Amino acid sequence: MSGAEISDGISCRLLLGSDAEAAFAVHCAATSHLSNNIVRRESLEFIREQINDGFVVGGFSGEGDLVAYAVLTVSNSATHKVADLLEIDPASRKRFCLFDGVAVHPKWQFRGIHHALIAERMSYARRLGRDVIGVTVSPRNFKSLKNLLGTGFLVMQATLLYGGYERLILVQNLGSRPEGGLTRVKAVALGRFEESVEALRSGLCGFEISWNEQGQAIMHYGSRS
Ligand SMILES: CC(C)(COP(=O)(O)OP(=O)(O)OC[C@H]1O[C@@H](n2cnc3c(N)ncnc32)[C@H](O)[C@@H]1OP(=O)(O)O)[C@@H](O)C(=O)NCCC(=O)NCCS
Repeated sequence: MSGAEISDGISCRLLLGSDAEAAFAVHCAATSHLSNNIVRRESLEFIREQINDGFVVGGFSGEGDLVAYAVLTVSNSATHKVADLLEIDPASRKRFCLFDGVAVHPKWQFRGIHHALIAERMSYARRLGRDVIGVTVSPRNFKSLKNLLGTGFLVMQATLLYGGYERLILVQNLGSRPEGGLTRVKAVALGRFEESVEALRSGLCGFEISWNEQGQAIMHYGSRS
């Protein structure tokens, strides 16, 4: 992936340990105004570990500045924990990986970089033979949710994580893309976490987000017809 252009003027490569401080700076700039309710706050040390243990894709401007990064992990404790929550059987675990964090510097947001980093990590996961991808997202992180749902992820689980914060777990199986779309069965305001838990328990999965007339974000849960 070294040097490949992923979006208008943005090239990418895997980050090295020496990029950790620049990645931390991007993370801080992107999340300083957001609570843990919306996005998990990382330390420099944690980002350093992610770079060493996983595959962290960096997006660089034409001037060579790191403006975004996104994490793919295959075997750290977070990956195992999410695989456990999804009840992925032992045989399938070697196909599982986790998108474990992304940040785009505010000056570079709304240019499709997140979309590009999702696509880049998907193709990297495929090359690693990891075609089942999980990702945890706050039900209040509408932008991230919308981008992930738009690329084929489905909400499959809802639980408390990272010290008690509400999180949806989205999954995409790159190896099996069922024919046909999902039919809307239940609409749940994303502020009402328990209702998402209920919808998922009843066997539905979340596939689309929209906003109602009161401005509330709504997750549409459905099933294949
Ligand atoms: C969430 C986050 C990563 C999104 O990054 P981003 O690069 O701004 O996202 P994108 O540009 O790919 O997509 C955002 C919007 O821009 C639109 N877009 C895509 N390409 C575009 C382009 N070329 N020009 C303008 N807009 C574009 C997308 O369609 C999307 O909008 P829409 O869904 O309403 O259509 C970023 O806001 C961020 O760093 N947030 C803080 C950290 C965080 O929340 N991480 C996620 C934890 S799960």
